[in-house]
Parts: sequence; structure tokens; C-alpha cells
Amino acid sequence: MSQAHEYVKAHFDQFKSQLFDLLRIPSISTSVDHAGDVQRAAQWLADDLERIGLHPVEIIPTAGHPIVYGEWMGAGLDAKTILIYGHYDVQPALKSDGWINEPFEPEERDGHIYARGSSDDKGQIFTHMKAVESIRANGAKAPVNLKFLIEGEEEIGSTHLADFVAANRDKLQADVCVISDSGMPNSEQPSILYALRGLITMDVEVFGSATDLHSGTYGGSVHNPVQALAEIIAQLHKPDGSVAVPGFYDDVLPLSDEERTELQKTGMSESLWRQTTGAPKQWGEPGFAIHERTGARPTLEINGMAGGYFEPGFKTVLPAKAWAKISCRLVANQDPEVISRLVQNYIMNISPATIRTTVEISEGTRAAFVDIRTPEMQAAIQAFEKGWGKKPVFMREGGSIPVVSDFQSELNAPVILMGFGLNDDGAHGPNEHFMVEMFRKGINTAIYFYEAIGA
Ligand code: BES
Ligand code: MN
Ligand code: MN
Repeated sequence: MSQAHEYVKAHFDQFKSQLFDLLRIPSISTSVDHAGDVQRAAQWLADDLERIGLHPVEIIPTAGHPIVYGEWMGAGLDAKTILIYGHYDVQPALKSDGWINEPFEPEERDGHIYARGSSDDKGQIFTHMKAVESIRANGAKAPVNLKFLIEGEEEIGSTHLADFVAANRDKLQADVCVISDSGMPNSEQPSILYALRGLITMDVEVFGSATDLHSGTYGGSVHNPVQALAEIIAQLHKPDGSVAVPGFYDDVLPLSDEERTELQKTGMSESLWRQTTGAPKQWGEPGFAIHERTGARPTLEINGMAGGYFEPGFKTVLPAKAWAKISCRLVANQDPEVISRLVQNYIMNISPATIRTTVEISEGTRAAFVDIRTPEMQAAIQAFEKGWGKKPVFMREGGSIPVVSDFQSELNAPVILMGFGLNDDGAHGPNEHFMVEMFRKGINTAIYFYEAIGA
């Protein structure tokens, strides 16, 4: 065992308790009330980066939450440079959502660390910090130059990161970017992602009467906006489950037979799907397997809809307004702007004259693809083989990480999606957890990766 790996072994309990400290900070980026906590998490990370020997370490303000940046360039100009990205912001969580422990009071149970952010993404970015600490212990040199870029706005769409990356190309220049912000299907078979989906989001509002009305006096003469919204939403998909928006699939590249065959080997089984979702029966675009629907096909989802009276009891009211939040996962070369317009125009077109509809679209994220035949990917494969004792498989993932396409276009560097989470970690849901063994293997694998890139 190398010195670095010895260090991991000797300090693992300490690493865990440090991670617990980070997890205690409720850095919920979407909540204005937690802006101070987000700032506090940035400071905590900056302090730890400094402690493990990065210099300089900066907390860079943005119009939103700050970016934490730190580097160690001690390997010299001839050595390779790795840019490590992660996010320290988390999704909201309340004990009442169904948590066993308080979401920001971490607890270890049955080999898992339970806390919001444990897997997404504090625990995963921390594996790299502890890998660097272990390599640099006792003043040892790392085989590569290291740059950390840890943002506080990933869960709200990385609002200010694209501009930062574009404006700081020289600062961020690297030979390879590594991102640990995803999961594997199980802890025994390591996997590397080569595709992520893109994302667009929109707010739909439907207005009927000027104010809420008595449903006895006016019911039957006014088009109820909640009903109208339901009618609109019902037209977004065809009865077979495909998206009804004209042109929605036009830019989707079909999967090759070869890729389909390859993906089939690791695809989710019907029984695992049933077990993890708890849903009664599969649904979706015909002609595609579960893993193709979630990894290689675009979708349109209603994330929420509301309107009218929802309190206990009953109110015979004609609500004046209804709203919905809609998002689409994108694939291949679908352009977020183009698809947003298509969906917006379609909704406007099918909206009847009896109501007024608005569709507000936000900036989207492109799907991302990673070339799996690069030397950097070879280094990643080698690292997983050493860390897990098993060759990794390549998979597609349905989630989105906005910065990936920015790294590819602005830095012109390959991206390695080296996730150390598990798909059933419960990210974004109640009782999110990070497997202690994944934390340990993640640190060891990150060390092997830096060594392989440096060699
Ligand atoms: N870590 C996830 C992305 C992810 C999820 C990657 C599952 C691989 C597997 C990330 O934190 C996330 O939740 N992203 C959002 C992006 C959005 C808010 C722009 C997503 O996918 O919904
Ligand atoms: Mn994440
Ligand atoms: Mn997330």
C-alpha cells in the first residue's frame, strides 16, 4: 500500500467526522433564508482546502452564491493539471418529508451516512479533498497539478457558473476535468458515465376570471383555469406516452444498434425498477427499454401543478388562476433554446381563447457526451480497476450537470464523470445517504486516478 493509501486508512474516521461537520451546514441554494448558510459552507470548504495545502484559495462572489476555488501547482509546468469540480449547495430537506434523523444532523446507520448532501454532492467532492490531503501528507508532492472549483448554485441550474468559466479560461485551464456528482447502480460493479441529459424548465400560468368567483353564480359560464390547465397538460403527451409537441424529437440522434446492445447489458431490470420506484406499472415512450427512456430519449415532465382550494373542508369557488411547472430532459444535439420555444409555442397554440396563458422559459442546459476513447479515460478505467478490483462499465444517465458542456466548449478539455454515489442514495428525497464504503473507495480511487494521469 502506498503512503497515501496508508494515510487514508489511518485517518478515515477523522475524514468522516469532518464530512459530518460540512453536512451540518444547511446550504440550501434555492432558499433565500439559507443564503448565510450557503456562504458558511463556502467558507468551511475554503478553510479545509487551505488546510490540505492548496494555495491560493479564494471565495469568489457572484451575483448569486459564491464559487470556491483553490489550486496547487507544485507539480510544475511540465506536469498534467486536473480540474476537480463539485457543488456544495444542496436541495431543501425537512424532517417532516419522511426523514428518520434531522436532515442536517448527520447520522451513521448500517454503513451509511444519512444527511442532506451526503451523496449529492458534499460527500463526493469531499472524497477528492481527502484524496489530495492523503497524497500531500507530510509535505509529499502530488503527481499532478490540482485545481478545485466548487460551486454553490448547481441545484438551481448553475446560474452564474457558465459566465465564470468563460471569463476564466486561463485560470481553469486543465488537461482533464473530473466530476464526482453521480451514482452507480450498485456498489460492487463500478461504472463511469458517458452521457448526461440536458434540461429546460418553464413556468406556465393560466388566468380565467379577474378574481375568484362564486361557482354557483358563475359556474358554467367561465372556463375554469384549473380545468383549462389540465386540458392543456393532457395534450402534451400522446396516449402512447410520447411527447406530442411537434418537432420535439427532430434533433434526437438515434441510438446505434451497437450502443443499444452494449447498454442492454447494464440496463435496469423490471424488478429493480419496480422495487426502486414503487410505481405499479411501467410507463413511457413505446419501443424503448427503461434505461433508454431515461438515458437516451428526451422527456417532458409536469413537476407540479396547482390552483384552487386545497385546505380541509370545501369551498365552492371558481379559482381565478392555475399554474404548472414543466421541465424537459434533453438528449443528443437538442438545443435548449429551440426546444423551449417549441414547447412554449405549442402550449400557446392549444390554449383556448376562453383563458389567458403565459409560458415563462428559463435558460437551459445542453445534454453532454464524453468521449470514452481518450487517454484520460484509460487513466480513469485503471483507477477504478485498482479501487474496486474490477473493470468499470460505461453507462448513460438521465440527470443533468450544467457545467459539463461549459467545460467541454470553453476549456476544450475532456471530462470524466467519476461518480461515487449510488443510484439509490435517495438524492433530492428523504433519507439521502452516502455509503461509507463508497466514501472510502472513492478516496482511494481518486488517488489512483491522479497517479495514473500523472504517470
Ligand atoms: N448530481 C445531480 C445530477 C445527477 C443526478 C447526475 C443523477 C447523475 C445522476 C445534480 O446535483 C442535479 O441534481 N442536477 C439537476 C440539475 C438542474 C437543477 C439544473 C438535475 O438533474 O435535476
Ligand atoms: Mn449533484
Ligand atoms: Mn442534485
